[in-house]
Amino acid sequence: MRVGIFNSAEEASKEGAKIIVEFFSRKPASTLGLATGSTPLMLYAELRKAYANGDFSLHNSLAFALDEYVGMDSDHPQLYRNVLKEELVGDDKTGLSDANLRTPNISHPDPDVAAINYEAAIQAAGGVDLQILGIGADGHIGFNEPGGSLSSLTHHEVLASQTLEDNARFFDKDSDQVPRTCITQGLKTIMNAKNLLLLAFGESKREAVTQLIEGPVSAKWPSTVLQHHPSVIVLVDEASAGDLELSELYRTRWQMLKHID
Ligand code: PGA
Repeated sequence: MRVGIFNSAEEASKEGAKIIVEFFSRKPASTLGLATGSTPLMLYAELRKAYANGDFSLHNSLAFALDEYVGMDSDHPQLYRNVLKEELVGDDKTGLSDANLRTPNISHPDPDVAAINYEAAIQAAGGVDLQILGIGADGHIGFNEPGGSLSSLTHHEVLASQTLEDNARFFDKDSDQVPRTCITQGLKTIMNAKNLLLLAFGESKREAVTQLIEGPVSAKWPSTVLQHHPSVIVLVDEASAGDLELSELYRTRWQMLKHID
């Protein structure tokens, strides 16, 4: 794990965009894994800038969302497919086409089957080359809530009450409006991505960040499974990194070693 600690979320997001742009310049047409939530928004803005400058393009790429709410109307603005379209799709954004943005099919009558189909689609595409991740205050990645299998594939999942509360801000501050279930890539699915780039900002993520980097691997903090992944970059701000015991070492390692092949 490479841990980059930055003064602000903005600096960390700029670094994240730089890493993605460099990765795609070396490996154009790579498959990108997309996160939603507030965390990657500055990163996506930087990618749009890089596209406008001619430094980056998703024209020839597939992109797979990490997760999607179940039970929402297809035109709801908070449906993750619609959020990601707003952020990235089109020749005025990053060149990603609507057809190449892949999200779980929530119009399927059986979410379990939709999950299996989504897993198969990721595998048929040859897997994800670079997966962007956020992290929940409860340690979830994707929507893999605490207590699930560390080896799960894409599946139908319930949202923990902490997540319903955290996401209420996207639904008129009313947690009752947040969908109760979702389809999420599983932890094994995420572990199958070749490279992972996780961002976490703010004090509310401090415990999750500490557990992710320094805690024991446990289903209680699902993101800790990433300690077993060979290529993970974690970009954090000072606020979320405040309880890391070994931050000095992470800073030195960040300065002296390469982060990603
Ligand atoms: P956030 O959510 O970026 O909105 O904080 C992250 C997550 O739940 O994975």
